[in-house]
Order: sequence, then C-alpha cells, then structure tokens
Amino acid sequence: MLNFEFKNPTKILFGKGQIVQLKTLVPANAKVLFLYGGGSIKTNGVYEQVTAALADHKVVEFRGIEANPEYDTLMKALNIIKTQDIDFLLAVGGGSVIDGTKFLSSAALYEGNDPWEILAKPIRTEIGMPFATVLTLPATGSEMNSGAVITRAETKEKLAMGGPGLFPQFSILDPQVISSIPVRQLQNGIIDAYTHVLEQYLTYPIGAFLQDRFAESILKTLIEVGPAIIKDPANYDLACEFMWCCTMALNGLIQKGVPTDWATHMIGHELTAQFGIDHARTLAIVAPNLYKYKFENKKDKLAQYGERIWDIKQGPTENKAHMAIEKTIAFFHQLGVDTKLSDYTQEYTNAAQSIEERFTQRGWKGLGERKDITPSDAKKIIEMSY
Ligand code: NZQ
Ligand code: ZN
Repeated sequence: MLNFEFKNPTKILFGKGQIVQLKTLVPANAKVLFLYGGGSIKTNGVYEQVTAALADHKVVEFRGIEANPEYDTLMKALNIIKTQDIDFLLAVGGGSVIDGTKFLSSAALYEGNDPWEILAKPIRTEIGMPFATVLTLPATGSEMNSGAVITRAETKEKLAMGGPGLFPQFSILDPQVISSIPVRQLQNGIIDAYTHVLEQYLTYPIGAFLQDRFAESILKTLIEVGPAIIKDPANYDLACEFMWCCTMALNGLIQKGVPTDWATHMIGHELTAQFGIDHARTLAIVAPNLYKYKFENKKDKLAQYGERIWDIKQGPTENKAHMAIEKTIAFFHQLGVDTKLSDYTQEYTNAAQSIEERFTQRGWKGLGERKDITPSDAKKIIEMSY
C-alpha cells in the first residue's frame, strides 16, 4: 500500500427531511448567496424547503448555473458576491451547481487579476469562501470532495480545479429528491459513479485489500440498485442506496494508498467540451476502449474485477480480463447508454486529432496510473471509440 494522508472535513446530513437543518447550520449572521440551476428545484419542492429553512437569514438568489457550469455565468455570480458583501455560498443542485459554487468559493478570495488562471494554471485553492450544498442529483460525489470542473464555451475548454479549501462545510443528502430526476440523468449518475470507482480500482495490484473491497462493494451495489432505480425512482429505499454509493465513490476514501488512473475522465472532458455530450456518456464511450488499449497494464486488476464483480471464474487472466471489459459494456447498454462516439455525433472525424493537439499544447505528456498515456495514445483511444 502507498503512503497516504486522509482528511475529509465535510459533514453529511443524510435522509428524509434533513433540509430543515439549514436553519441552524448556516451561520445566523451570514449573507448567503443561494445558487441553483435551470429551475428543477422549483418544480419538486426543494426550493420551498430551502427558502423556508432560510427564512430568518439574509439571502440573495442566483439562478441559472447550467449543466457543465459555464465560466461566463459564474463571473456574473462573482460580481454579485463582490458587490453585495456575500460571505456564505449555498449550492442547491447537482454536480454542475456544486462545481460552479466551488469555483466561486475560490474566485471570491482570489487575489490575482484573472480568475480563469485558477483553472488554466491550475492554482490549488488552500482557502475558499465557506460554502455548503443541498444535493439534488447523485452522480459526481462533488458534495463530499474538493474538486470541480468548469467549462468555457468560448474556447471549448473544460478544465479541473481543486484544493483542500474546497470541501463543502456540510452537505444535505435527502434521497427523496431522486423521485423527480429524469431517466437520462439517473443513467448518467449510475455510470459516473461506477466509472469513478473504476478509475481508482482498475490500475495494477498493490495490496490494499480493504480499498479493493470498498471499491468492489460500491460496484456491486450500483449493479444491484442501478437498473432498479431507473424503473422506480420514487422508491426511497433504493434511492438511499444509490445516493450513498455516488458519494462514497468519490469522497477520497477508496483512492487512499492506491494508484489512480483518471485518463478516462481527462479524455472524456474533451468530448463534452467539443460536442456537448453529457459527462457520464463520455465515460461510457472512453472507458472500455481505454481498458482495451492499456490491456497489458491493467489485465491483473481487470481479471480480479471480472472474478469478483461479474463472477467470471474460468480461464486464464487474459480471458477473464477481456470478458470483464465486455461485461462492463453490456452493463452500460443494459442501463440504456450508448458506448460509441458515433452514437452521439456525426461530426466526430476530427475529434481524435484535436484531442491529441490539445493535450500536446497543455503539456499533458503522460496520463493514467503509470503516466504513460501520451497525446498520441489518447488519439488512438478516441479512434477506437468511433
Ligand atoms: O439545472 P436544473 O434545472 O436543476 O436541472 C438539472 C440539470 O439539467 C437536472 N436535475 C438535477 N437535480 C434534479 C434535476 N432534475 C430533476 N430533479 C432533480 N432532483 O439534471 C441536469 C444535470 O445536472 P448536472 O448538475 O449537470 O449533473 P451532474 O450531477 O451529473 O453533474 C455533471 C457535472 O459535474 C462534473 C461534470 O464534468 C459535469 O460538469 N463532475 C464533477 C466532479 C466533481 N466535482 O468531483 C467529478 C465528475 O467526474 C464530473 O467531472
Ligand atoms: Zn465523473
């Protein structure tokens, strides 16, 4: 096992009716910027619950953080923070609203000239403006981690940021919010969380038996409850399992002491930036091809994954590993998610080349757990996904 440090300061309030706790958890003398997305919270009762709980607080609202949060929109919110003396941020939404709020938490205290530098350089955020979240869409784990991904449509870029100053102070997880989530977003949430686990698990053996079994338990639970929650999103018991899986998949715990990959995410972000494909779907496109391309590196863990998750007991390591990749693709299809780039866009012919050029320009010479996925490898992986 590798050396590690682990600190996750985010307090979680999980379960029915927890949104009322905002009343006491948000500091009484704070001036709060309440940030949300396109308005789903106005149709499912979440908006009313939040405003009722904050009735005694000073609150300014900011509506309109879009899926794949857009830099220009966030700069408008930053202006409100600076001109209206906001000192506490409350994100009510999915990963996009929460990530946008993390950017604002960092940008509000940033002393440089251009907040884009936080993403472009990138600059690690040691201290941010205090913020909290009410999660409405289980998927990203952003509610209990310190990372964010921000899009700039102008330049078709989607870049990551983070740092220890960007953990939410607290996050409220009421699984009842799941009943209003459209099927497409439920599919996305399952695949995003599932792939988060694979990014931290499908590398090479290093011991860490416990981390492997944490990871496997999340995968098994997602396989068990994923298809069921798509059929019955109002089932509270299933919703609890699904929501907690998504949080646990990316709150730092399972990546401690083990190598991690994340190349699927880095390549996938380019597909969202270029074609607007939902984040999770880019992962379904990239991951299986990346596993095939880096087969020699990953075959031992792929075989373990095949044995323990998909019950593939027969044959040598290579067979088990290949079958595990096929099972993964079949699972994505079972959830109703396509796995080829051409299923999403017909404009794909330049995608691989342009990703190679961008990675080269940014100096991203080696991605993955062995830092050996070069820009030209990324190009080949994308070509395999056509
Ligand atoms: O904007 P509203 O109207 O609220 O509608 C949203 C949005 O259209 C809707 N929605 C959310 N909760 C709902 C609901 N609709 C009905 N009922 C509810 N309860 O769902 C749509 C998608 O929301 P979004 O927040 O974009 O989805 P998700 O949570 O999947 O977040 C995706 C973003 O997170 C980033 C992705 O790159 C992408 O930008 N990620 C963030 C990570 C992190 N911070 O750790 C890690 C991930 O790998 C990922 O990269
Ligand atoms: Zn993801």
